[in-house]
Amino acid sequence: MKSTKLFVLTLLISLSIGKFTTWAQDVNFNDSWKFYNAEAEGAENATFNDANWRKLDLPHDWAIEGPFDVKYNARSGGLPFHGTGWYRKHFVMQSSAKGKVVSIAFEGAMYDAHIWVNGNFIGNRPYGYIGFEFDISKYLKYDGTDNVIAVRLRPQDLSTRWYPGAGIYRSVWLKINEPVHVANWGTYITTPTVTNVKAVIQNETTIENKSVQNKKVVVKHEYFSPDGKSVATIEEELEVPANSSKNSGLYCTIENPEKWDTETPNLYSAITTITENGKVVDTYNSRFGIRTIAYSTKGFFLNGKKVRFNGVCLHHDNGALGAAVYRRADERKLQMMKSMGVNAIRTSHNPPSREFLELCDELGLLVQDEAFDVWKIPKVANGYNLFFDEWAERDIKDMIRRDRNHPSIVMWSIGNEILEQGDKKNGWKVAKMLNDYCKEMDPTRPTSAGFNHYPDPYDNNMAQQVDIAGMNYKPSKYSEEIKNYPDLPIYGSETSSVTSSRGVYHLPIEKYQTHESLQVTSYDIIGPPWAYPPDIEFHFQEQNPNVMGEFMWTGFDYLGEPTPYGGKDNSTNGHWNADWPSRSSYFGAVDLAGFPKDRFYLYQSHWTTKPMIHLLPHWNWKGMEGENIPVYCYTNCDEAELFVNGKSMGKKVKGKDLTELKVDFLRYEPKKFQSKYRLSWNVPYEAGNIKVVGYKNGKAIQEVQIFTSGKPAKISLSVDRKEIAADGSDLAYITIRIEDKDGNLCPNATNLVNFSIDGVGSLIAVDNGNAASVEPFQANYRKAFSGMCLAVLKSSKKEGTIKFTAKSKGLKSSKISVLTK
Ligand code: GAL
Repeated sequence: MKSTKLFVLTLLISLSIGKFTTWAQDVNFNDSWKFYNAEAEGAENATFNDANWRKLDLPHDWAIEGPFDVKYNARSGGLPFHGTGWYRKHFVMQSSAKGKVVSIAFEGAMYDAHIWVNGNFIGNRPYGYIGFEFDISKYLKYDGTDNVIAVRLRPQDLSTRWYPGAGIYRSVWLKINEPVHVANWGTYITTPTVTNVKAVIQNETTIENKSVQNKKVVVKHEYFSPDGKSVATIEEELEVPANSSKNSGLYCTIENPEKWDTETPNLYSAITTITENGKVVDTYNSRFGIRTIAYSTKGFFLNGKKVRFNGVCLHHDNGALGAAVYRRADERKLQMMKSMGVNAIRTSHNPPSREFLELCDELGLLVQDEAFDVWKIPKVANGYNLFFDEWAERDIKDMIRRDRNHPSIVMWSIGNEILEQGDKKNGWKVAKMLNDYCKEMDPTRPTSAGFNHYPDPYDNNMAQQVDIAGMNYKPSKYSEEIKNYPDLPIYGSETSSVTSSRGVYHLPIEKYQTHESLQVTSYDIIGPPWAYPPDIEFHFQEQNPNVMGEFMWTGFDYLGEPTPYGGKDNSTNGHWNADWPSRSSYFGAVDLAGFPKDRFYLYQSHWTTKPMIHLLPHWNWKGMEGENIPVYCYTNCDEAELFVNGKSMGKKVKGKDLTELKVDFLRYEPKKFQSKYRLSWNVPYEAGNIKVVGYKNGKAIQEVQIFTSGKPAKISLSVDRKEIAADGSDLAYITIRIEDKDGNLCPNATNLVNFSIDGVGSLIAVDNGNAASVEPFQANYRKAFSGMCLAVLKSSKKEGTIKFTAKSKGLKSSKISVLTK
């Protein structure tokens, strides 16, 4: 955990550190809540009868349970996320906790949380993406009788442009502290000097004293290297005034620092102890990295080395799991992004979960942490603009306070496509205000924002308020911007926005707005009017080597925003139900189930150097014998040669042989783009197989082959990990493929597959990546889409085996097991 107490123990068990005993604890408070999915009059009262409410554990997203319905607005996923939801939890505090400071900490609740303890109103937090905590000591009973915490959430229709989820979807903690303790998110660790031989570590720690006496304490930090060795210790004495807080600022040096980098994400930790009268009263664990970041109009530099962002934008949901946080779901997502060649993530358009940032630290991904999608001028009827004046300062400062020890974070973004870009009078003022908050909380990182109305935000002085200007969808303007604003560094904060459906190919290749199938062809050319193929961004990035790189929209598909279906444009103030059941995005390089689309390989071919080769489309075109089929190859090899049923269709040279793309996009004039990033052939269809061989330095090093499949005959299963943790939250992802008798994927198969499981786990979600399906995500069946579907298993807290069986009428069934340890 970032910046949180070192030990997580069961409720009210005292813990010993050396010879001292302290009460400082974070108790995970996720288990055994009661839930009711409607308004419940009086539910805030301690005596309210919740006996019939549903029992569940957190994190929880009630909306992902469905059912899909057009009345819930396809733009935000067509799932029942709006309405009122109540959560209650009963617990007992023992007398030994009396006199301590007891707080309840929520890492995120969606949204507009109102909280009561034993009938007393404790507070409210509207923004669903930020964590918050309340001191509840004085409202608790410590006599062994029942305490109850009640939470009311009220997510609204038309509150966001995507699927927000609904519920207490991140973890909850009960924190029990001595009166003198490290504040929430209370350490701020920076590295003002970093060389190869030495790093100066600065640790600014906020110590709270909630007692009525001034307290003399010793604050001590002990630093540990990535392999756990103690490498430095520093301490000071401090007096913290009664009912107040004080900052301790201590420097020390670490010799021969092991730097945090994208290749070697070395992580140090600090254990802070607070000692009062020789007794340790608090212990606080922080994790950080030693690295330098720098930026200029020449680019972005990590540890002195220029790095270009091969970035993706990601929304916070995990497809069929909804918004509920599962560490493994984020890990799988980020690992896949890394394998695509991604080195940077933009958390569009809100602060992500703690787990997500911890994973970016561990995997070596650079992060742009983004605060808002909207300021005062609304994009949708019930958006964050309603809360901006009252909450923006706290929300953005809390984001930074929470996140500033993460070495992965290299930039704060104050907003995305903020409509104040068009406000000539006040736009820059709001930008300046938010920028100043960022600088106050963390002067070590640059600020940014994603601008989509070039040149408005430059003309109204808004872009000049941030350190680095992000440009959304304007690659052909990079050079003009550089000429006109030579002092303002830039990057593509949002790029491409091409859409596609995995395994779907429409012939001939032609531009269309929408298709009757509610799918989008995977030849990677179709997008909304502001979009353009990845190739065009690659081209302009190459033309402008000082542009810091790009964040393509998006790495993964996400729930909601089913462009090009459902709605007209990005600022439609309403429901996007015109093409129901189309209900989730087509923008991802990976589909909602986590299966790579062709576009994944186009990026991989451009962003990675380990030899790879990919071929499309499938080779099942019955009825089209003799007609020309465009065959595309995405590779980082020098050359590729295509064979149809063993006959060579010729070699193509990467960088020399071009593929013409029709680019009927608004802001790109030429209308045709000759792409050097794709190799292609037009070959008459004949059943059998296509094969492509990749050559490097004249030597064949990679090949891939696609066969015309026969009829669906069997199910094949594979799992991402054969062994998972028996911790009640780890996941195993099972890929289900419909194959012919020879093991070839049946690329058009839509067979209904039924699942059963046995053993120490549960089947918690199913999907197939079809953005226009209203089959439930929580079920024991799923139709295949383009031959595949997915089942997600969750471990229990028992060790053992989970046995999974998949059956489908007329097909040979299949079984697979997962061990939990
Ligand atoms: C951008 C916007 C994103 C998403 C994207 C789709 O304009 O910032 O949130 O809507 O368009 O192309």
